[in-house]
Amino acid sequence: MSETFDVIVIGAGPGGYVCAIRAAQLGLKVACVEKRETLGGTCLNIGCIPSKALLHSSEVFEETSHHLAEQGIIVGQVGLDLAKMQARKGEVVGANVKGVEFLFKKNKVTWLKGEGKITAPGTVNVAGTDYAAKHIVIATGSESTPLKGVEVDETRIVTSTGGLDLAEVPKTMVVIGAGVIGLELGSVWRRLGAEVTVIEYLDGILPGMDGEIRKQFERLLTKQGFKFRLKSKVTSAVADATGVTLKVEPAAGGDAEELRADVVLLAIGRRPYVTALGLDAVGVALDERGRVKTDAQFATNIPGIYAIGDAITGAMLAHKAEDEGYALAEMLVGQKPHINYDAIPGVVYTWPEVAAVGATEEALKAAGTAYKVGKFPFTANGRARAMGATDGFVKILADKATDKVLGAHIIGPDAGTLIAEIALAIEFGASAEDVARTSHAHPSLNEAVKEAALAAWDKAVHI
Ligand code: NAI
Repeated sequence: MSETFDVIVIGAGPGGYVCAIRAAQLGLKVACVEKRETLGGTCLNIGCIPSKALLHSSEVFEETSHHLAEQGIIVGQVGLDLAKMQARKGEVVGANVKGVEFLFKKNKVTWLKGEGKITAPGTVNVAGTDYAAKHIVIATGSESTPLKGVEVDETRIVTSTGGLDLAEVPKTMVVIGAGVIGLELGSVWRRLGAEVTVIEYLDGILPGMDGEIRKQFERLLTKQGFKFRLKSKVTSAVADATGVTLKVEPAAGGDAEELRADVVLLAIGRRPYVTALGLDAVGVALDERGRVKTDAQFATNIPGIYAIGDAITGAMLAHKAEDEGYALAEMLVGQKPHINYDAIPGVVYTWPEVAAVGATEEALKAAGTAYKVGKFPFTANGRARAMGATDGFVKILADKATDKVLGAHIIGPDAGTLIAEIALAIEFGASAEDVARTSHAHPSLNEAVKEAALAAWDKAVHI
């Protein structure tokens, strides 16, 4: 055994690196195994961070191309230097991954470079060397779910990885799956000039989100130029030298139709990435969807082996993985942290943004919970008017009897930032009245949250 650690975390994504740093802060001797050349996992390298860089740049491009004249700003011909935009994205990623490396050094976390394999309880093999650990944490994340008949080459038929790296703007793009990745990356390429068609198996976009928000979002994206083919499935996609030929059928069955696209983005979900870890041999149990089975303390069925993040049950979100990594490190030193899964927000970083936390109306109805709804549109918010960003609304759900906030759903400008207030309200067990009576700066978008809370508790003032 070459070296012994208190904790070896496998995977340096947001779940793994946060777990490693927190464990080191708490006095443990920690190593983190990562096979990629850089730290930060999918999120920092090929996920959240590069996509947000491109979402930002493409948003500025679209705004400058089409929406400045209405504010009296005259610009000349707007051009696109995609290579430069991609290079900037690379710099953003570089700064972030270097930041994690710096944090590892600062906290004395050892980076074991290479692919980690659990060869026995308490032993991790990395690039041919065995390391011992009292605790092993699986934080290996997820990978894009494949689809039969659609062979990904990351050039013409891409997952989110290739979809972030296109060297030219496709004239036509077909996106398979109207989920978060499809709508975010579809937005990037549509803004830069692609004609985007989204093929979705179900009868609406963003399944699982609030019904009213989904409908309004679909309308707004359609107005922006997105084409949606709902209740449809792709049965094959074949790339050739000039593009891709797809076969699309009604989800319920029926005649197939052929479509052509320059690029196809496959975004039908992600699945846990745990296959190369040697879990079979050590007997770590997986569930029916290939996720590592854990208890509420993230322990697997094998003593000393834990799992967090996308590799286990729950929403596949970087911040959920971070919260779990942080909590697990504390549990390993005997602390008793708690994660409130009802207070974990989800955000779609499109324009407008979509954000949610807590229960949907559909879920409350299904559970038979008596609830109240407070809604406030951005058309009635002064700041949104000043910004020319009046599409959307805030919807707050509160318990009918106690007024306790149960959920919030926002579509509109900066929804992803606005939702944080309601996440905090839910975390603190606040009532709609508590939110409504909290002073909100004027003029701010946050006032729409206050007004929705007022509407849920009693009556909004500004509508
Ligand atoms: P998703 O689960 O969000 O959406 C997949 C969509 O594909 C669903 O609408 C589903 O009905 C549809 N679908 C499934 N099979 C299909 C088929 N054969 N044909 C047509 N449609 C089909 O998955 P997505 O967008 O790939 O994202 C993966 C994960 O990454 C999600 O858990 C998401 O939350 C996470 N993510 C989060 C982001 C954020 O927080 N902003 C950004 C990007 C990803």
